[in-house]
Amino acid sequence: VSYGWDSATAWSRPASELSAIAELIRRASGIALRPAQFSSLQAALARVAPGVDPADVLRLASDEAGGTAILTRLIDEIAVKETFFFRHERELAAIEWRMLRSAAQDAGRDVVRVWSAACATGEEPYTLAILACEAFGGTAAPVRILGSDISETALARARQARYAARSVREVAPARRDRWFERAGAELTVRRELRDLVEFRQVNLARDPIPPQGEERFDLIVCRNVLIYFDRNAVQRTLVALERALWPHGMLVIGAADRLSAGPPSASSRPRRAPVPDRKPRSSPPRRPAAPRKPAEPERERARNLDAVHAWSLEATIEKTALLIEREPLNVDAYFVLGVAQLAADDPAGAVVSLRRALFLDPEFGLAAFKLARAHEALGDRRAARRAYLRALHSLRPDDPRNAALLAQLDIADVAVACRMRLADLGGAP
Ligand SMILES: C[S@@+](CC[C@H](N)C(=O)[O-])C[C@H]1O[C@@H](n2cnc3c(N)ncnc32)[C@H](O)[C@@H]1O
Repeated sequence: VSYGWDSATAWSRPASELSAIAELIRRASGIALRPAQFSSLQAALARVAPGVDPADVLRLASDEAGGTAILTRLIDEIAVKETFFFRHERELAAIEWRMLRSAAQDAGRDVVRVWSAACATGEEPYTLAILACEAFGGTAAPVRILGSDISETALARARQARYAARSVREVAPARRDRWFERAGAELTVRRELRDLVEFRQVNLARDPIPPQGEERFDLIVCRNVLIYFDRNAVQRTLVALERALWPHGMLVIGAADRLSAGPPSASSRPRRAPVPDRKPRSSPPRRPAAPRKPAEPERERARNLDAVHAWSLEATIEKTALLIEREPLNVDAYFVLGVAQLAADDPAGAVVSLRRALFLDPEFGLAAFKLARAHEALGDRRAARRAYLRALHSLRPDDPRNAALLAQLDIADVAVACRMRLADLGGAP
C-alpha cells in the first residue's frame, strides 16, 4: 500500500504522525516503539487500514469514543508474539512446584494458582501445565493456570491448542508422545493439560492486576514482554505483579527482559563502599578452585557488587533506591539494597528488595540466603526455611556471579550456615 510518499520531502509529515500514533500505542499498551521501528508501524497501518492516510488513522485512533477498535487492531498487529514450548526452559526449572504447593496448603488452599501473563498463543501456559504434571507425577496436577495476553487473536489460537512443528521444536520426543496428539501435520495438546489452563484477555498496562475477579497467585510467569515496554510501564507492571502474588509466591521474568534494562550508566554506578553485614577478615578469604572467566554481563554484575564499599548504610540505601528508580530491572541494585536494609534493621524492607532480586534472577543463591535471614529477623520461620532451601538449591561455588562478594563471603560457609539454620528451624535440606 502506498501512502503517496514518494520522496524524502514527504517523509517528515507522516513521520510525525507515525510518532503520534506510536504515542497512542504506548499509552494504551506500554509498548514503546522506537523511530527505527516506524517502518513496521507503517506496515501494520497498511494491514489494519489499507489505503488510509496515517493522518486519518491518527484522527480515528485519537477519538475517545470510537478509537479503541482501531488501536486494538494496531496493537495486535505490532505486538511481537514469538513463542514456543519449553522456551528458555532453564528459567522455568527454577520453579519449585512442591514448595509452592506446600506453601499454598499452609495458607489453606489446595491448588497452586499460576498466571502466565502475556502468553501469546499459549505455548507457555501449556508448558507450565506439563512441568506441573511432571513435578506432581500425574495428569491431574493440583494447579490452575491462567494464560492471558493483550491480543485476542493470539488467545483464540491458544484456546485451539493446536500447534505446528515449529512450536514444539524444543519438546523432547518422549514429552511429545506423552502430552500431545497428532492432528495431521500438527499436534494438539492433550485434554488433561487443556483442562488445567484457561485464557482471558488482560492488558498489563491498563487492566487491574491481578485481573478482575482473580485471587492472588502462587506463581506468575511474565517473560519476553517487558522488553517491549517503556521504563515506567516496566516499573508499574513489576510492582503490580509482585502485589498480585501471595506472600510466598514466585515471579519469573525472562532473562531478555532483565537485559533490556541495560547496564547501569557510569554516572549511576556507585563508587567503592563496603557490603554491609560482612564477615570479619580474620582469615584470608577462600576462593573457588577455578572460577571461570565471567562473561560480559557477569563482569558487569561483579563490578556492581564490588562497587559497594565505602558508603554508610544510609547512603547505600538512598543511592541504590535511586538507581532502582532509573533501572527497575537491575538485580544487583535490589540485592545491595536488601543487604543494606537488613543491616540497618529493616528486615521488612529487606524482604521486599531481596524478593525482587530473586524475581529477576531466580538462581541468585546469595539473595535467597539473605532473604532467609530477613524472614528469620521477622520471626517467619516457614518463609525462612523455604528461602534457606532455595539458597541451598542455587548456591554454586563456581558461580562467577558470586565473585564480587568472595572478599567478604565464602560460598561454602553460606551453604553450611543454611544447613545449620535449617536444622534449627526443623527441616532437613
Ligand atoms: C514475545 S510474546 C511472549 C510470549 C511468552 N511469554 C514467551 O515468553 O514465550 C509477547 C506477548 O506480549 C503481549 N503483550 C504486549 N503488550 C502487552 C500488554 N500491554 N498486556 C498484555 N500482553 C501484552 C503480546 O501480544 C505478545 O503476545
